[in-house]
Amino acid sequence: LNNGLALTPQMGYAPWNAFGVNVNETLIKETADRLISTGLAELGYTYLAVDDAWAEKERVDGRMVGNKQTFPSGMKALGDYIHDKGLLFGIYSDAGTHTCDGYPGSIGFEKEDAEDFASWGVDYLKYDNCYCNPEDPVEGRYAAMRDALNATGRPILYAMVSRGMRPLSGAALLQVGNSWRTTADIAPNWDAMLRCLDNTVGLSRFAGPGHWNDPDMLEVGVGMSLPEQRSHFALWALLKAPLIIGADLRRIDDEALGILKARELVAVNQDGLGVAGDLLWKEGPLEVYGAPISGGARAVILFNRHTPFPLASKITVNWHQLGYPAEFKATVRDLYAEKDLGVYQEHFTATVDPHDVCAVLITPHIALPYFDKWRPWHR
Ligand code: GLA
Repeated sequence: LNNGLALTPQMGYAPWNAFGVNVNETLIKETADRLISTGLAELGYTYLAVDDAWAEKERVDGRMVGNKQTFPSGMKALGDYIHDKGLLFGIYSDAGTHTCDGYPGSIGFEKEDAEDFASWGVDYLKYDNCYCNPEDPVEGRYAAMRDALNATGRPILYAMVSRGMRPLSGAALLQVGNSWRTTADIAPNWDAMLRCLDNTVGLSRFAGPGHWNDPDMLEVGVGMSLPEQRSHFALWALLKAPLIIGADLRRIDDEALGILKARELVAVNQDGLGVAGDLLWKEGPLEVYGAPISGGARAVILFNRHTPFPLASKITVNWHQLGYPAEFKATVRDLYAEKDLGVYQEHFTATVDPHDVCAVLITPHIALPYFDKWRPWHR
């Protein structure tokens, strides 16, 4: 969507993965404070969104209102708190009669709801797809809210949850919103994470500044082993997924926080070239992902999906997979360790533990036009 927003993928927080419907204004305010005190906000995680279950179960005089028990100060006051911290305020609604958890949806009320959201200072809308009439084309329902948001005059990032929609519909939807969900809901386990990844592979051509593929929110700090969390975060960064933290930030452990704060991976995600990465090569459980980075470099992830443990495997990326001539010399830098590994020619090989990644930046010593030979495997 060409509304000037999400020129790089949105970054922020939503409580759904850790808390589900158990949200309240104290939690959101404490999370705002934690986004600041952990340094996450400074790294770019600035959208703080409530997910489902913030509203009263029924409209009041035709308007959606904050739940009187759990958000007693109201949504405008919550938005003010978030803005006073220098953060941006996100809210959630649905393109059907109800949200997925049975709170009011916006169909038929797009104008009223968009106006109310704007008057509360909302900067971000996650718009879900439950309780919809299947005969009613999804593009139309989503366009109605886009137009209502535009009409408010307030810039509101528009994140669409169009679960189950595949590329064709996604391509059309990306004209409508700033991101679209490519998958069913993630869960804090390896198989769910892989399902979200595999459903997003091959879709990189649909993504770009203002419109991103969304394989769902992060489970870093919610579940999975450390290598699995490292893999999840690096892959999401490279796919140019929105980086929406889902953990309890009041209790997150240092290792998980360290992953979310891996600044060189965040830099890959936020790189100004804005080309989403994709799968480049695969042999059994060994995979190579890559993305072009401004200035001619490539971000590359060597990913070992091998199960069961404990088979560490050698994985190689060849320069021709990156669109580089074999004779190019290039510096290879480890993006998690934040250190150069050396100068390589023709290929780079790493030994990668099961369920782990080696995430690197490959920078040739010759200046290049950055996009000349970029051909993801799936095109
Ligand atoms: C859907 C979405 C989730 C979450 C829930 C809330 O399942 O995909 O991300 O927002 O609804 O009910």
